[in-house]
Amino acid sequence: MTSHSGAPGAEPATGQISDYYGSLGPLLQMAWDDNFHFGYWEGPSDASSVQEATDRFTDLLIERLRVGPGDRVLDVGCGIGKPALRVAASTGASVVGITISRSQVEQGTARAAAEGRSDQVAFQFADGTAMPFADGSFDAILAFESINHMDRPKALAEMARVLVPGGRLVLTDVTPPPDHTYRPDEETDVVTSLVRFEDWPGLIRDAGLRLDELTDVTEHTRGTVDRLVDGILSCRRDFEAAHGISVQQVLDAAKEALPTVSGVGCLICVAQKP
Ligand SMILES: C[S@@+](CC[C@H](N)C(=O)[O-])C[C@H]1O[C@@H](n2cnc3c(N)ncnc32)[C@H](O)[C@@H]1O
Repeated sequence: MTSHSGAPGAEPATGQISDYYGSLGPLLQMAWDDNFHFGYWEGPSDASSVQEATDRFTDLLIERLRVGPGDRVLDVGCGIGKPALRVAASTGASVVGITISRSQVEQGTARAAAEGRSDQVAFQFADGTAMPFADGSFDAILAFESINHMDRPKALAEMARVLVPGGRLVLTDVTPPPDHTYRPDEETDVVTSLVRFEDWPGLIRDAGLRLDELTDVTEHTRGTVDRLVDGILSCRRDFEAAHGISVQQVLDAAKEALPTVSGVGCLICVAQKP
């Protein structure tokens, strides 16, 4: 799901990110969920499963999209399509999901067909920082744990461009740990960059959008890392039997792209195009 960096000018190439998810995706599916994002737990005593907690997080964002039948939603960085299908099922809106991983496009497309929603939900290969859509094409945009892989100002400018006036942008971002262990200038060859919570109002303003909500949800997403490690440990044997590659190899390959900090946080940001 996440790794981080952020040296100015060191934004990852899309091919590098695509390779990263190509090797890690099947492991995430087995060890975590088809939602490639953090879980949201109500509190320390919340015993929700990973599936429940990740779907709950999707639902919190769906509420904020405020869309219904007839609306067009763009899901930027759609993973293998689980959140996009949930948006479509619960709101009746039509959804286009984009990702820079071709295997994710295939998986999302198969998922839409399996759920009988091929007319309502489509997936395509496209870069969130240079989108192949006309101005004002969408009523709302979801960017769920994906903008951390992109040049944020470029991606936000594109999102603002393809939204209709009055359209809403709902996103999550990964934030650096509060203990200042994150050193962007020491990170090279990584697939995620981090900016601080405090940087978000300026990013939104500079994109010509109006900030509606900025919420730190770190206390709710904190359980993610431990549960992911548990998931990897318990599926290790099954994964290796199914894929003929050791979990360690996958993690080593991913690690080249992983930076050195832990304890990251998470925020929800909602903005509107004036
Ligand atoms: C952590 S996953 C989140 C996936 C999905 N939103 C979810 O919640 O299940 C990040 C996603 O962003 C996509 N991504 C990364 N860089 C991108 C870019 N420049 N344009 C479009 N998608 C991108 C990745 O391919 C991946 O699908």
